[in-house]
Amino acid sequence: MSEEALPFSEVYVPDKDRYLEYYRKSIEDIERFWDERARELIWIKTWDQVLDRSNPPFYRWFKGGYTNINLNALDKWIGTSTANKVAYYWEGEPGDRRVISYYDLYVEVNRFAWALRELVGVKEGDAVTIYLPMIPELPVSMLAVTRLGGIHSVVFSGFSSSALADRIVDARARVLITADGFYRRGRVIELKKAADEAVKLAEDRGVRVEKVVVVRRAGVDVNMVEGRDYWYHDLVNEAPVKAYVKPVPRKSDDVLFILYTSGTTGRPKGIMHSVGGYMTYVYNVFKWNWDPRSDDVFWCAADIGWITGHTYIVYGPLMHGETQVMYEGAPDYPQPDRIWSMIERYSVTVFYTSPTLLRLLLRYGDKWIEKHDLSSIRILGTVGEPINPEVWRWYYKKIGGGRAPIVDTWWQTETGAAMISPAPGLSLVPLKPGSATYPLPGIVADILTPDGRKAEPGEKGLLVIKEPWPGMLMGIWGDPDRYIKTYWAMFSRPGDGVWIYYPADYAVRDEDGYFWLLGRADEVLNVAGHRLGTIELEDAIVSHPAVSEAAVVGAPDPIKGEVPVAFVVLKTGYEPSERLEEEIKEEVRKLIGPIAVPSRILFVSKLPKTRSGKIMRRIMIALLHGKPVGDVTTLEDPSAVDEVRSAIEEFKKLMKE
Ligand code: WTA
Repeated sequence: MSEEALPFSEVYVPDKDRYLEYYRKSIEDIERFWDERARELIWIKTWDQVLDRSNPPFYRWFKGGYTNINLNALDKWIGTSTANKVAYYWEGEPGDRRVISYYDLYVEVNRFAWALRELVGVKEGDAVTIYLPMIPELPVSMLAVTRLGGIHSVVFSGFSSSALADRIVDARARVLITADGFYRRGRVIELKKAADEAVKLAEDRGVRVEKVVVVRRAGVDVNMVEGRDYWYHDLVNEAPVKAYVKPVPRKSDDVLFILYTSGTTGRPKGIMHSVGGYMTYVYNVFKWNWDPRSDDVFWCAADIGWITGHTYIVYGPLMHGETQVMYEGAPDYPQPDRIWSMIERYSVTVFYTSPTLLRLLLRYGDKWIEKHDLSSIRILGTVGEPINPEVWRWYYKKIGGGRAPIVDTWWQTETGAAMISPAPGLSLVPLKPGSATYPLPGIVADILTPDGRKAEPGEKGLLVIKEPWPGMLMGIWGDPDRYIKTYWAMFSRPGDGVWIYYPADYAVRDEDGYFWLLGRADEVLNVAGHRLGTIELEDAIVSHPAVSEAAVVGAPDPIKGEVPVAFVVLKTGYEPSERLEEEIKEEVRKLIGPIAVPSRILFVSKLPKTRSGKIMRRIMIALLHGKPVGDVTTLEDPSAVDEVRSAIEEFKKLMKE
C-alpha cells in the first residue's frame, strides 16, 4: 500500500496537504460549507435553512428553497456561447451519428415537455417511467419530465418486461416512455414488445399505464394501441417550433427522480433523490472529480439506466456545459477497439468507466489500443467495483500514457455522486493503485468494526458516513421503514441522537489514511458493476415449477468481478439435467433480465442450513473461494457441506476446460 511516484502532466501536481487542508475546513461546519456551495447554482428562491435535522434520518436539504434542475442544466446556457457548443456527440452501434448542441437540446426538451403536458397530460408530481436505450431521447425525456416538475423513474433497457412491470407498479406510473427497439451486437432488441408485456402485467396488478410514448430508433414493426400509444416524433412535431415551457418551480426537498436498486429482499428499492440536494451535490462533485474545462470532451461509458449515467451523463456534465460522447451499443462491437477508436475520433479528454469494462478490453490485447492516438486524455476514472492494482496500472500506462491521474470513485445509487475519490479539480493527492484515496469535501467517512468500534489502520471494517450530505437519498419510495432499517439501523443510536449511514461496504484505511474499498458486506452481488440481490435471484429461480429451494452466491470471475452461481434443490419427481439448467436460467432472464442469469446452476439434494432453517451462504462462499468453511456446529446436517463441496469441485473443473 505504498505511494508510487506517478508523474502527471504539470497540470496535476499532487499535493496532499493542500487537499487535506481544504477538506478539514469543509467539515468544520458542513452546513456553512454546503450553503456556500449551493450558492454557485441558480435557484428560484433561496433556502431558509441549509439542513433540516428535525426528523432524522429523513434529513432535508435547503429547506424553503425552490428551483428546477433545468435552469442549471439547460436554460442557463441559452444566450451564452455554450448554446452553440456540442452537448452530445452521439454514436449508434451501427455507426450512425448525431451531433446535438446545447441549443438543440433546449429546443427538443421544450417541445417534448410541451407535448407531454398538452397531449399526454403529465403534471407536477407525476411519476413517469422511462425505458429507453442509450439514445439522445433518453436525456431529453428526463429533462422534459423534470422541467414539468414530474418525477422520472428510468428503468435500464436490459431489464425484462417483468422487472419493468414491478417498477411501474411500485412507482404507480401512468406514463411510460420507450422505443421500438435498439441495436446490441448487431441485433435489434425489440423494446416495445417488452414494454407492451410489462404494461399488461402492471394492469393485472391494478396499475394502468394510460399513455405510452414510443421513440422510433430501430425501425422495426411495433403494435401501436390507438388512444394509448403515441410516436415520440409525432408529439414533438405537434409542439410549436419555438415552444417554451417554463420550468416548474419545485421545492428543494421534492423528489427529483426515483431509481430502483437491488437490496437484500426480493423487492427492489425505489431510491428517491431530492431536487435541491442532488443538484448541489452533483454540481460540486463533478467539478472536483473532473476539473471541467471549456474544451473538454467528456465520456462516461455507462448506461443512463444506472445512477452513474444519471449523474455523469445527464445532470453533472450538462450543469457544467460539457461536450460529451454518448454511445448506444456494445463496447467491443464490431471490433474490440470500438471504445479506443471513439476516444480518438472525438478527442476525448476525460474518460470514465468500470473495472469490468477495462478487464474485458485488457484481455483483447494491446494491439487494439496501439492503433489509436489517445493523447487527448487528461483524466481517467473508474466506478462500480474495486479496481485491481494490475488493471489500474495498465489503465494508467496504456490508456492514459502515464499522464492522466486515475480518479477511482466510490459511491452508490443512494449517495447521488462520488463520496470517496481523488479530486483533481481541487487538489490531486498522490495516488495509490486500487485506493479511492480520501473522502470528498463535506463527507465525514469512517470505518467501524461490527461492534461499533473505530477500526485501526489496516483493520478491515465497515464503511460509514457520519454526517448528512446533500446528495443523500431522501428515502425509499413508499417504504420509510425499510429506509431506516437498511441504511441507519446498523450503527445509529437514536436515543443519543447519533445517526450513522451504513452503505454495507467493507473497507480498510491504511497508515496514510487512504481508503480501500473491499466489496459488499450484505447479501448483494456486484456483477460487472451491477448490484443484484441474492434473494431477488432466488425468488426468480424458485418460481420455476421444478425447483424446491435455491441459494445464490457470488463466484469470483476474472472479468465481471463476480458472477451468480445457484445451488438448487429440485422437487421430488424431477431429475437434474442440462435442459433443466437452461430452463431455470431462462426463468431468471424472463423475470429479471440477461444481466442476472447465473453462470451455473449446481444441483444438490440439500442446502447447508442452520437448525433454525437459515441457509448458510457463508459456507458456500468459502467453498467457492477455496477457503476453510469455519464453524459448522450450528449446521442441521453436516453432510450438506460435502455435497456442496463436490458440486463446486465439479463446477471448477468445468470452468477450467
Ligand atoms: C460498489 C454505482 C469499490 C460498492 C455508483 C457500492 C465500488 C456499490 C466503487 C454501489 C469503487 C462502487 N470501488 N467498490 N470505486 N464504486 N462500488 O448503487 O459496493 O450501482 O456499494 O452505484 O458498488 O453500486 P451502485
